[in-house]
Amino acid sequence: MKILLTGATGQVGWELQRTLITLGEVISVGRSQMDLAQLNTIRRIIREIQPDLIINPAAYTAVDQAESEPDLVMAINGIAPGAIAEEAKRLGAAMIHYSTDYVFDGLNTTPYTEADKPNPQNIYGMTKLAGEQAIMAVGVPHLILRTSWIYGLRGKNFLLTMQKLAQEREEIRVVNNQIGAPTWSRLIAEVTAQILSQARQDVSGFLASKSGIYHLTANGQTSWYGFAKAIFDHNFQQSERKLQRLIAITSKDYPTAASRPAYSLLNSQKLSNTFDLVLPEWQRSLELVLTEQIFVTA
Ligand SMILES: NC(=O)c1ccc[n+]([C@@H]2O[C@H](COP(=O)([O-])OP(=O)(O)OC[C@H]3O[C@@H](n4cnc5c(N)ncnc54)[C@H](OP(=O)(O)O)[C@@H]3O)[C@@H](O)[C@H]2O)c1
Repeated sequence: MKILLTGATGQVGWELQRTLITLGEVISVGRSQMDLAQLNTIRRIIREIQPDLIINPAAYTAVDQAESEPDLVMAINGIAPGAIAEEAKRLGAAMIHYSTDYVFDGLNTTPYTEADKPNPQNIYGMTKLAGEQAIMAVGVPHLILRTSWIYGLRGKNFLLTMQKLAQEREEIRVVNNQIGAPTWSRLIAEVTAQILSQARQDVSGFLASKSGIYHLTANGQTSWYGFAKAIFDHNFQQSERKLQRLIAITSKDYPTAASRPAYSLLNSQKLSNTFDLVLPEWQRSLELVLTEQIFVTA
């Protein structure tokens, strides 16, 4: 199987690169080879490579910055996925794409299912929803995996930001009234690979029979404050910490350019049932990540 992978410098793309290695030939195309804001380039590169499967974790992910350049964000998140899907369909290939909990408005009180109606509250969420719709309109064999609150030991994420701040500040204030599920980038990559290994030789046929949106997050729930507390309860970097006080605040006290859903838990039961996979509690993943970090930096 020839797999074209975008976004390999990103959190999920990086993990995919290593996880997919046993499934076929993985060809990574970075922004310099295939800028998702350039439709002609996207089409040319895909026609040159002729993959059997395109996996697209690349996206414009700076949620606040997105508010100030909506056209660029729409080109990358909303329009490019449709062009990728068209080219995949033309080749008889399949596509796996990633989307976000931020397609929802956060007014639910129970975890969102795939049947719930999206109602994004910011530019990032709107453009990610447009990307989902563009792929589905093409009718290529596809999976759209909606995930949330991604973190890992690489890239820009909440875990690494908190650890850095803890070395610089005595006090950190973190929002306690947004609820979600922190999800390890490696979990997302491994679930993707597990699904693909079920496809055996016929990835297009398999993904055609399973096409649709699936929610893919760790189990359980927390707030950003709860996530930060769990990070600091772990003993890593204890001696290098300046941090004395972790303070819970509300999103009113932490204004951001983009508004975020107050509740964005996703129900991942459809994915678990369809592919017979078990998703861990978020705390279990976090513990593995933090333990790995100790070994890596020891
Ligand atoms: N991060 C989260 O908390 C979160 C939550 C829910 C869903 N998601 C979704 O999950 C997926 C993976 O997210 P992530 O956190 O792994 O993303 P990430 O770490 O921010 O990485 C984004 C990747 O996209 C690439 N990219 C950005 N603009 C590009 C362009 N114009 N052309 C080509 N490549 C471009 C980046 O390349 P450069 O290195 O060149 O910038 C990078 O490799 C995305 O679809 C995202 O929307 C993320």
